[in-house]
Amino acid sequence: MTVPAAARLRAQALRAEIARHDTLYYQLDAPEVPDSEYDRLFRELQALETDYPALMTPDSPTMRVGGEAAQMFASLVHRQPMLSLNNAFDAEELAAFDRRVREVLGLDVVEYAVEPKFDGLAISIVYVNGQLVQAATRGDSERGEDVTANVRTIRAIPLLLDTLSPPPLLEVRGEVLMLKRDFEYLNQQQQSRGGKLFANPRNAAAGSLRQLDSKITAKRPLSFMAYAIGAADPVPPMVTHSAMMDHLASMRLPVASERGVVAGLEGLLGYYQRIGTERPALPYEIDGVVYKVNNLRQQQELGFVSRAPRFALAHKFPAQEALTVIEAIEVQVGRTGVITPVARLNPVFVGGVTVTNATLHNQDEIDRKDIRVGDTVSVRRAGDVIPEVVRVLSDRRPPDSTPYKLLSAINQRCPVCGSHAVRLDDEAAIRCTGGLYCQAQRKQALLHFASRRAMDVEGLGDKLVEQLVDSGLVQRLPDLYRLDLATLTGLDRMGEKSAQNLLDALEQSRRVGLGRFIFALGIRNVGVSTARDLSRHFGTLQALIQADAVALQAVPDVGPVVAESLLQFFAEAHNRDVLEQLCKTREEGGAGIVLNQATISNTNVQTLTGKTFVLTGTLPTLSREEAKEMIENAGGKVVGSVSKKTDYVVVGEEAGSKLDKAQVLGIALLDEDSLHALLQSSF
Ligand code: IVH
Repeated sequence: MTVPAAARLRAQALRAEIARHDTLYYQLDAPEVPDSEYDRLFRELQALETDYPALMTPDSPTMRVGGEAAQMFASLVHRQPMLSLNNAFDAEELAAFDRRVREVLGLDVVEYAVEPKFDGLAISIVYVNGQLVQAATRGDSERGEDVTANVRTIRAIPLLLDTLSPPPLLEVRGEVLMLKRDFEYLNQQQQSRGGKLFANPRNAAAGSLRQLDSKITAKRPLSFMAYAIGAADPVPPMVTHSAMMDHLASMRLPVASERGVVAGLEGLLGYYQRIGTERPALPYEIDGVVYKVNNLRQQQELGFVSRAPRFALAHKFPAQEALTVIEAIEVQVGRTGVITPVARLNPVFVGGVTVTNATLHNQDEIDRKDIRVGDTVSVRRAGDVIPEVVRVLSDRRPPDSTPYKLLSAINQRCPVCGSHAVRLDDEAAIRCTGGLYCQAQRKQALLHFASRRAMDVEGLGDKLVEQLVDSGLVQRLPDLYRLDLATLTGLDRMGEKSAQNLLDALEQSRRVGLGRFIFALGIRNVGVSTARDLSRHFGTLQALIQADAVALQAVPDVGPVVAESLLQFFAEAHNRDVLEQLCKTREEGGAGIVLNQATISNTNVQTLTGKTFVLTGTLPTLSREEAKEMIENAGGKVVGSVSKKTDYVVVGEEAGSKLDKAQVLGIALLDEDSLHALLQSSF
């Protein structure tokens, strides 16, 4: 079949466009289009090639999808051995390197090419006449594994060199790696599929490249950075390493944009420091920087010593991972009550600081890595992040060690307040159930309690809560209601006016709808609307506290998870104690909170059955909704207009024509207090 010229041109244009997007994404870190647009171009090209197979070429981006799975990797002999670098860990070793180089070359100052030391795995890629024909891992430096099929799937690596005069042979060396953002994304995907999580981008890159099934590699977001050339025919005419890298870049091979050229020891140290600072913001992980004598003739003159070049040096950053022993596992209680296990470590120097603790996240994480007290572990510290245990060296495990179970280790109790600790069905975390009582959760509980949709105590914000708790003035919620003017004005930055405003706001919050109050308790999984449903259904706090799982789940939208949260919360004696103190009258030493529905009714006692109410005007404390709820909970009905059938009209301020009509018809009028009285007497 002949291929129409239009199809041929379109295929060419698509290939060029796809290659351009690959460069933008992998080399310039500046994608121009979303993935969906890239996929669209890709699919269009695939469709063209399916329609006209004659259009297919080995260097088409559609050939990156991977092929048949291999039984094992074939072994390939490198055209030139893939050597390693000597390392320096401090300025002294670095100075010694520069001195040796100067001595051999007989120079005062040497020019160096400087580059990041990529933390991935070394690879050799052979281009013949500009086409990628072979790729191999480093292996034992003489022979590597043939990973051509896999490397062909890596979008950052051109299948065809972008040059008008492709050289007969060019071996490019560099590092296969995974960008940090791609690593995060891959792990998220793995997690949601229940797959294995990778410890770091390097492991992810290695695991992805060394897949016998290249279709799997094709699905992994691998990148590549070139750092040298190997065998070449002809040898490119460049005089310096940096020019050689520019030459590679001109053919669309990715090279680090952070590379540079510096003079002498001072230049090297400056670069080391600069990259050290930039390191957290780089798109990929690095473990140091690499210095290479820039002039290629000078490189030759320096030559090699055993397995490493004398013209290059890796200057490593302090290790980010180190081995140590877990001496104990302790727990911390967070402000939301989550109980987090923390490993106490034999102090170890990692990434420039001494690390003594590492978070163990939760029980699932401990189980997954099988972390035990006494274990020798590898600890990792990345930037400012809390250090974590990467893995256990199980062959160094003491024979008598036992698996660590957080709940039993803490005797099912919160180590801060002694309340019950539980693991809710749908969560990985273990939590303290003493939300109202626990010191660790105090500030959080107070802020939530006072928030607008809860008790709405205006003026009780972050700063004040901090002050009140830190000074010991408020230890539990009920203490809030014991504050007085003298105490408050004694606080920093608290004038008499704000103090009085706060006291007024607290006073006003003493009368509150049951729904708001339930929400204010900060019970896990109980939001505003669930709290309202619960209040409508149970009518009193007492009825809610006494409800069992079946009774709770009779409430619309309350399922097993919410029911369990409620049961756990009310089962905790400490919480019930706080509730009692909140609701006791002031004479009895309580906070004197009056729940607008608490005393009126429950679903079984509906003594206003058959009575019809009309509401008009604004009531002093109850909202229209709340008043309606209370009446309905007691069995009454609230309607919109007054008629002869109306039993009561509840009148607030600025009542309208409904009041007039009620007066004409001689219907009983109630204000808010008498409504309360009626509801109470009906109980
Ligand atoms: S040059 C003759 N440059 O570090 C040596 N290597 O310990 C050629 N590496 O196996 C290596 N970044 O995989 C060079 N900018 C860089 C590098 C780099 C990472 C790796 C490379 C090598 C190892 C040497």
